[in-house]
Amino acid sequence: MNLNGKEIVLGVTGGIAAYKSAEIVSRLRHLGAGVHVIMTRNATEFVSPLTFQTLSANPVVTDTFASPEYWNVEHVALAKLADLFVIAPATANILAKMTAGIADDMLSTTVLATRAPILVAPAMNTGMWTAKATRENMRILTERGVHRIGPDSGMLACGDEGAGRMSEPDEIVREIIRILHISRDLAGKRVLITAGATRERLDPVRFLTNDSSGKMGFALAEAARDRGAEVTVVCGNVSVPLPNGVRIIAIESALDLLDAMMAECPSNDIIIQAAAVADYRPEKVAETKIKKKSGEQIILKLVENPDIAKAVGERKAAGQTLVGFAAETDHVNENAQQKLRKKNLDMIVANDVTQKGAGFNSDTNIATLITAEGCIEEPLQSKRKLADSILDHILMLRQKSGSPSD
Ligand code: CTP
Repeated sequence: MNLNGKEIVLGVTGGIAAYKSAEIVSRLRHLGAGVHVIMTRNATEFVSPLTFQTLSANPVVTDTFASPEYWNVEHVALAKLADLFVIAPATANILAKMTAGIADDMLSTTVLATRAPILVAPAMNTGMWTAKATRENMRILTERGVHRIGPDSGMLACGDEGAGRMSEPDEIVREIIRILHISRDLAGKRVLITAGATRERLDPVRFLTNDSSGKMGFALAEAARDRGAEVTVVCGNVSVPLPNGVRIIAIESALDLLDAMMAECPSNDIIIQAAAVADYRPEKVAETKIKKKSGEQIILKLVENPDIAKAVGERKAAGQTLVGFAAETDHVNENAQQKLRKKNLDMIVANDVTQKGAGFNSDTNIATLITAEGCIEEPLQSKRKLADSILDHILMLRQKSGSPSD
């Protein structure tokens, strides 16, 4: 693994962990990256700029003698140069400034101006890390796509024990490599994903639904987004936070999902249907709450919902790749293969939901990717990792079929 040609801007803020950042600089240089260090005034109290200058072989930017005119030139140059902007250690103060968009020194000004991905390695006292303000700032930054590593737990410099210690330099460097090597192989592609469970109304306060959490659909959405795709998620009921950086269309029932898919499908290249769709809905939806009549049975009459994946398959356009899911409890591969043909899919992801670590609500999955050509077993792994494998196989299928613009 090398980082030849990559330019990394490293912001160092004032914390005792600043000395560890010297190690980050030498490792990055060793891997071939260019490193440009910006130190806050407080950071220079902990480590001498000369240390970073020697290790990076570049001038170190500090605020010590800089005039505002100097910032203006220098911060724009570094903000543009960066392939990745790392802040390690990141104090509660810099996280707060980044959240609010405050630009009152070289580091905060440059990080505000950059378009590069940003990685922060927080380091602070446990009380500061767990403070509501810091939690909220970190949540907002994560939502905006800022990557974070750590902090780790352990004995802190202030004598407290708990979360707040900066991650070790080798872990930070590994994360830097991961971020810089995220492939952009879906750039220019439009990906439509369905996720979560449909709800089929019985009355204003009741519905029929299923156990789908939305985790697999969201893992796919995040993976496709990170690989450069323009992602739309048609989203039923879910029990996990919505992914950032994707367009969300919220639906409730299978009929809503059908409408959304008919409208969205024509403009997408890749369509992945991970939603758990109710096959039946109550024949009648009561306008007011159904009242209990003691001693009487209620018999619900259900009518069949449209098969949305089949409807999408019937309208498949040239150059589109269609992927479905099959949650099965028995004869997994045979049932899934039938669905592949019936719904005119290019690939179906079959799950045996009876296996431990597979299916609904779990963070992991076990799957078989089935195409007309055969089956690929995907062993127990995180849903995110499986999402990337599914996307890899979709791209392989598209290459084989010579889809336009691939
Ligand atoms: N699906 C759909 N519309 C439905 C039912 C399912 O679009 N009414 C989609 C799902 O999103 C999934 C695939 O079809 O991608 C297979 O779903 P599954 O529930 O496993 O299959 P069904 O066709 O409903 O068959 P069965 O319930 O009998 O196993």
